Amino acid sequence: MIRALALALALAAAAPALAQSEAERAVSDARQRWAESPHGPMLERILPPTFAASELPDRNSAGARLVVQYCVQCHNLPNPAMHQAAKWPAIVKRMVARMQGKGNMGELMAEMMAGVRAPSDAESAVLLAYLERHAQAPFDPRKYPDIEAPQAQSFRLACSQCHVLPDPKRYTASQWRAVVARMEKNMAWMNRVVGSRPVRGEPQLRIDEINAYLAKHARRG
Ligand code: HEC
Ligand code: HEC
Repeated sequence: MIRALALALALAAAAPALAQSEAERAVSDARQRWAESPHGPMLERILPPTFAASELPDRNSAGARLVVQYCVQCHNLPNPAMHQAAKWPAIVKRMVARMQGKGNMGELMAEMMAGVRAPSDAESAVLLAYLERHAQAPFDPRKYPDIEAPQAQSFRLACSQCHVLPDPKRYTASQWRAVVARMEKNMAWMNRVVGSRPVRGEPQLRIDEINAYLAKHARRG
C-alpha cells in the first residue's frame, strides 16, 4: 500500500496532469484503432461505451491517467466501480499478460499487438491500487436477509450477471433509477437479458421490481 502510494506520488510528479480533452482524445484514438481491426465488432462488445473518462473518480490521479493510457487499447473504458476490489488483481494480471503478448486469444491479439503498449511493473501496481481503491462495495447477504424473497429475484439474478451484486446503500433511490437505466443499456449492448424478448429459462428483467428492491434499502437523502 505504502509502496503503491510512493509510486503514485513519483509518477504524479514525473508527468503533468493529463488535461481532460487529452484523455477524451486518447480514448477516441484508441477506439478508432481497435474498431478498424477485423475483430472490432467483437472487441467493441466486451465493455459498453456508457462510461466516460470524465467520470473516472479522482481523474487527475496517476492511476486514472494510467487507466486511460492502457485500458482503452482494445475495448471501451473500464469503470473501477464495475468490480469489487477482490476481483481486480486477477483481471489486471490477465490484461497485462495480453498487453505483453502473452495472453490467451493470442492470435487475435497478435494482430492488434503492433500498436499496443504494456505498463511497467511499477505502473501496473499504481493501476491496480487505483482500481481497488475505487472498486464496487459488494452486497452482503447477512445485512439483507430479504435477498432470498421472491420480490428480490429480479435484482438477484439480473444484477449479478456481469459483476458482483452491488450494495444498495451505495446510492439513493433516485440515483439508483439512473444507474439501473444505464445498466439496461449495458445489457442491451453486451447482449445479455433484456426484458423485451423473453427467452425461456433466462431470468426476467423486471425493472420496476429491481428499483423497488433497491429503493427499500437505498441510502436516504
Ligand atoms: C491487449 C488488449 C487489451 C487491453 C490493453 C486491455 N484489455 Fe481488458 N479485455 C481484453 C479482452 C480480449 C477481454 C475479453 C476476454 C476476457 O474477459 O478476458 C477483456 C475484458 C475486460 C473486462 C471484462 C471482463 C470482466 O472480467 O469483467 C474488463 C473489466 C477489462 N477487460 C478491464 C481491463 C483493464 C482494467 C485494462 C487495463 C489495465 C484492460 N482491460 C486492458 C483485452 C484487453
Ligand atoms: C451486461 C452486463 C451488466 C449487467 C447485467 C449489469 N451491469 Fe452493472 N455494470 C456493468 C458495466 C459494464 C459497468 C461499468 C460501466 C458503467 O458504469 O456503466 C457496471 C457498473 C455498475 C455499477 C457501478 C457504477 C457506478 O458508477 O457506481 C453499479 C452500481 C452497477 N453496475 C449496478 C448494476 C445493477 C443494479 C444491475 C441490475 C439492474 C446491473 N448493474 C447489471 C455491466 C452490467
